[in-house]
Amino acid sequence: MPKLIDGRTIAEKVYIDLRREIAELKTKGVTPGLAVVLVGDDPASRAYVRSKDKMCRDLGLRSVKLELPASTTQTELLNRVEQLNADASVHGILVQSPPPGHINEEAIVRALDPAKDVDGFHPENVAKLVIDDSSGFVPCTPLGVQRLLIESKIKINGAHVVVLGRSMIVGKPLALLLMQKNENANATVTVVHSRSRHLAEITRSADIIVAAIGRAGFVTGDHVSEGATVIDVGINRVEDAATERGYRLVGDVAFDEVSKIAGAITPVPGGVGPMTIAMLMSNTVKAARQWT
Ligand SMILES: NC(=O)c1ccc[n+]([C@@H]2O[C@H](COP(=O)([O-])OP(=O)(O)OC[C@H]3O[C@@H](n4cnc5c(N)ncnc54)[C@H](OP(=O)(O)O)[C@@H]3O)[C@@H](O)[C@H]2O)c1
Repeated sequence: MPKLIDGRTIAEKVYIDLRREIAELKTKGVTPGLAVVLVGDDPASRAYVRSKDKMCRDLGLRSVKLELPASTTQTELLNRVEQLNADASVHGILVQSPPPGHINEEAIVRALDPAKDVDGFHPENVAKLVIDDSSGFVPCTPLGVQRLLIESKIKINGAHVVVLGRSMIVGKPLALLLMQKNENANATVTVVHSRSRHLAEITRSADIIVAAIGRAGFVTGDHVSEGATVIDVGINRVEDAATERGYRLVGDVAFDEVSKIAGAITPVPGGVGPMTIAMLMSNTVKAARQWT
């Protein structure tokens, strides 16, 4: 059996360190504060916002939850962002994605103070990731994937990492992060996407595969070499009448099949997911540290 990489346990470890750091900041008169802005009433977004708010409270962070109606205009939202930028008790700001269709999300991200952009999507933070400037914010899911690998003692340095997916949220920043010039990176990174040819051949040459495409069970045994590490970022709903909700969540990896071949693998749920929120908390604490 492969080693199961347990995201929940690793996230708990992150929280132990964060609690210590938060206590220290409080002795200096700084309580890290995170503002989460939700526009509209998408049930999944609402659930994400609730869990972020709960985690802030558990850790003793200040949580500001701004719930705005779906009819909120671009100008109104920009004004709210400006207010949060100017609020000294707010160190991190996140606008829950996706906003309603009439909102230009990119313009909202650009309006954020880059020093409060704990999601790491502002062009200034993207640029810092490209130039290996560690003062910026790295998007939470890629940061969580790197931390999972480090804590699981899986060597990234010199490894061939194949990332499936090239989104600005996961694939692209993860590729940049893992090819940085430091001991926790230094990977040889290949990125594949929907137009890639010979995909399985490429993934079979990987020491580490990270799947982030949003296709249930896409990565099968045919994609993986014996002993490779497989990190599953995907979260997909598949209908399942036997469950109370009528569906269950699965990853991009056909777990039962791939786990017979992989050396280490993450489950879904309980792998990358818990790390994403842990890294959001970590980025918020990092943002607050800049004020001490
Ligand atoms: N665990 C977490 O905390 C977390 C966080 C974020 C996202 N996710 C999950 O991760 C998955 C990816 O999210 P995302 O936001 O990055 O998705 P996205 O923006 O839809 O991007 C998907 C990427 O996968 C590529 N792709 C799609 N089908 C493919 C195929 N058949 N073969 C190869 N590449 C393919 C696309 O290629 P093209 O660029 O060519 O279209 C694109 O680059 C989703 O399931 C999402 O729910 C999980």
